[in-house]
Parts: sequence; C-alpha cells; structure tokens
Amino acid sequence: MSKPDSQPRICDYEGSNYRTDFWEGRGREYEDRVERIALRKLLPKTGQRLLEVGAGFGRLTNEYANFEQVIVLDYALSNLQDAQEHLGRSPRYIYVAADAYKLPFQPGIFDCVTVVRVLHHMSDVTRVLNQIRRVLSPGGTLILEHANKRNLKALVRHALNKQAWDPNNLDPVEFVELNFDFHPEHIRQELGRAGFDLKTRVPVSFFRLQPLKKYVPQNVLVGMDSALQATGLLYSPSIFTKSIATGPTPDNRSVETLFACPECGGEVVRSGEILTCRTDGRRWAVRDGIYDFKAPIEVD
Ligand SMILES: C[S@@+](CC[C@H](N)C(=O)[O-])C[C@H]1O[C@@H](n2cnc3c(N)ncnc32)[C@H](O)[C@@H]1O
Repeated sequence: MSKPDSQPRICDYEGSNYRTDFWEGRGREYEDRVERIALRKLLPKTGQRLLEVGAGFGRLTNEYANFEQVIVLDYALSNLQDAQEHLGRSPRYIYVAADAYKLPFQPGIFDCVTVVRVLHHMSDVTRVLNQIRRVLSPGGTLILEHANKRNLKALVRHALNKQAWDPNNLDPVEFVELNFDFHPEHIRQELGRAGFDLKTRVPVSFFRLQPLKKYVPQNVLVGMDSALQATGLLYSPSIFTKSIATGPTPDNRSVETLFACPECGGEVVRSGEILTCRTDGRRWAVRDGIYDFKAPIEVD
C-alpha cells in the first residue's frame, strides 16, 4: 500500500507551459500516438459523462468524442486556460480546477473516468482511487495509466548493479520528488481495495528511447508498439489499465447538479459567477468559464 500523507503533496503545474515545454515540437509524437492507440482500445464505445482527471492542456480530450459531456479537470488553472484555447468553449466541455484528492462532484455521476500521465505524481494512490470510485456509477469504467517500475530498462540496469532500487519490489519508487514508478501488481492490489475489478492491462511505449526514435521511422515504431500492446507483456515504461467499478454507489448520471463541496460533500449551487455549498456555506468562483474549486473565496 502507498504511504498515506495527511495532506498529500501536489505536483503543481501552475504556470508551467506544459504544452510547449513537454509536447509541442519536443519530439514526442511517437508517445502521443501509441497512447491514443491504447486509449481507443480501452474506451467504451459511447457514454454520457466522462471525467478526465489531470487533463493538462487537453492533449487527449478529443479522444472522448463519443461522450455527451466531458469534464476537463486539472489542478493548474493555467493548464485549463490552455485547454480552453486548445479545445474551445463548446458546452460539451466543463472545465474544473480542483485537486484529484478532493473531487468536487456528487457521487455516481460519471460513467467513465480517465487518468493518463497523472498517477506518477500521486503519493497517495489509495486516496485518489477512493475519490474516483465515489464519483463513478456502478459498473462505470476507469482507464488508468501508470508509470511501470518493472520496465525492461530498469530490470537491465538493476541486473548490472547500476540502479539502487529493485524493480521487482512492490513498493512505489519516488525517483524524483513527486515522480513515482509503480509495480503493476501494486496497482492491481490498490484497484481491488478501492472497489475496482481490473479487466485489462495494455503495455505501452516500448520504444521510448531517443536513438530508436531518431533512426527508426516513426510509423514502424508505432506499428510494433501497437502489436506489442496486445501481448500483455508488462515490461514497457507505461501501462494502461481498464477496470470496472464494483459495489454500490448511486447512479446519478442523469442529474443536472454536478458539483458537491470538496470539504463536506454538500450540494453546490451556482448563482452568477459564485458557487455556494448549501451545507457549510463555503464559496468558490467561476473564472472565465473555469469552475475554480482550488480554494474557497470570501464574499461579503
Ligand atoms: C504530466 S501532466 C499530464 C496531462 C495530460 N493527462 C496528458 O497526458 O497530456 C500531469 C497533470 O496532472 C495534473 N495534476 C497533478 N496533480 C494533480 C492533482 N492533485 N489534482 C489534479 N490534477 C493534478 C497537473 O496539473 C498536470 O496537468
């Protein structure tokens, strides 16, 4: 089990230029393409309401075109502003600034949740999975990507005594502050404890190596990765999982009131640009189309 923090630390991307510093023009088209292939294999064909946790600038959000409504959630307002620019202000998209450890939603309102390239920033996996389970309807789908500790490169480095930590050990390894690699079995156990039935695991991004990407045509690498994804060989740096929510939660997918207080769970209502919790009176702002639940505001 991951070590619980009383207030889990947050890897704060505010003002980070994630879109241009990491993706655009940074030679990661191979990674982007193979992640999309894996997502397409796992996503339900259609659905009502999907929550994308840690959506960043909405790089993958256009993959959710078959859902009626998509909630684009991230902790960094600046990433969400990029997402608004990238995806537009269609009423299909609802932009929410909030902490994944305290999701500001009613229970059971989503039929699908996706989490890609986010879990590696989570020091308390148990807590975030419990939050996700709470907001999923019974039988809902979770697609969760995690960085794989037991990847081929780590196994070779360990065998050559070039790496202190053991990739076969189940505990997460924090190789840089707030950057964790996880053992696939550890994630399987965490999913089970949080009320998920793990159905499928897809290994992704086998050829995430600069020399290969430089000398081998991208289409060849993408084709080989796609073929390897079907093998279930869990030795890639990234693993996509698909799980089904088990046990009870209300099925609230058709309710209009999406939001619940992240502190007390009370119903949250909107009046103008102010959101108010009917139970404890806390208030939050809607800022230029983004529901901002990061911190309550004072209103006279
Ligand atoms: C590596 S980026 C991935 C973005 C996107 N999923 C993608 O694949 O392009 C990680 C994202 O997780 C967000 N994040 C980190 N901790 C978070 C938290 N506690 N709650 C909500 N978002 C968080 C960051 O703001 C950042 O946008």
